[in-house]
Amino acid sequence: ITGRATAVAHPNIALAKYWGKRRFGHNLPAVPSLSVTLAGLSTLTTVEFDDTLTADELHLGGRPAAPGPLARVTGLLDRVRAATGRREHARVVSHNDFPTAAGLASSASAFAALAFAASAATGLSTAPDAVSDLARRTSVSAARSAYGGFVALRAGEPADEVLPATPIAPEDHWPLRVIIAVTAEGPKDVGSSEGMKHTVDTSPYFPAWVDDAPALYARIHAAVLARDIAALGAAAEASALRMHASAIAADPGLLYWTGPTVAVLTEVRRLRARGTPAFFTIDAGPHVKVFTLPEAEAEVTATLLQIPGVLRTISAKPGGGARLDGG
Ligand code: DP6
Repeated sequence: ITGRATAVAHPNIALAKYWGKRRFGHNLPAVPSLSVTLAGLSTLTTVEFDDTLTADELHLGGRPAAPGPLARVTGLLDRVRAATGRREHARVVSHNDFPTAAGLASSASAFAALAFAASAATGLSTAPDAVSDLARRTSVSAARSAYGGFVALRAGEPADEVLPATPIAPEDHWPLRVIIAVTAEGPKDVGSSEGMKHTVDTSPYFPAWVDDAPALYARIHAAVLARDIAALGAAAEASALRMHASAIAADPGLLYWTGPTVAVLTEVRRLRARGTPAFFTIDAGPHVKVFTLPEAEAEVTATLLQIPGVLRTISAKPGGGARLDGG
């Protein structure tokens, strides 16, 4: 064994959505995004370089992983090997304490934890910007989970050699609550990487999404700094709906929503009409993430649990960035 480290990272939920990559460069986002990193949900990943291995190994939740996830992990490890001149393969063991591949942003925490652990195991920098850039090359949203609190990632430019995320406010800046309404079990149909590529390639609305996203991003950034939930809600819902509009307009259309998804959106707007601060965002899956403030958390949760098709809820608040475990 020539190097071993364990890291923890948390998922993040985008308020300003990333959807689509630049046609140039290494996994550079086409639009700026802004997220909140969540406490309470974690990925724990151990990386162990071992010169007796003949290939990288990946165990997810106690089982050998499928070829797809293993290839992405090897891609990240290849970058670490290239940067350090090492040749050894690695054994990677990862556990999530929340449902994977169900649109709950498991790739963000997974690749942030992997980037941190692989860097620590090989003596590469574990400074958050280095971890963020390394994670971003495999999964863009993972760049944001390197940091805690409220985190921004600008769009990629042709000259970008590196592109890490940037923290804009710490986790105690605003006690936003995120309540995930889980509307299905099991993995989603079309993963985000694949879904956004299909959107870039076939949606006539994709250029409009890219043109419009920076202005929405600016409203979301300002609303987070001002702790203005009404302004944040309006702009964040627009970001999610316009992202999904670009996907729905692909050929064939990409529809992540189910009946219960729409029922939750309707109910969130009804809550708001009654004066309760609640707004939604939706990622590449049928679940809905509802944002609210601590004083309305119980009411929002009870309301969501009464909607037919909502299986359960998961509540989270802003949390910290990726870190070494066991210290
Ligand atoms: C809808 O970061 O999973 O969650 O860069 O291809 O790994 P890759 O995509 P990924 O996409 C996340 C998309 C999203 C919105 C967001 O998190 O900003």
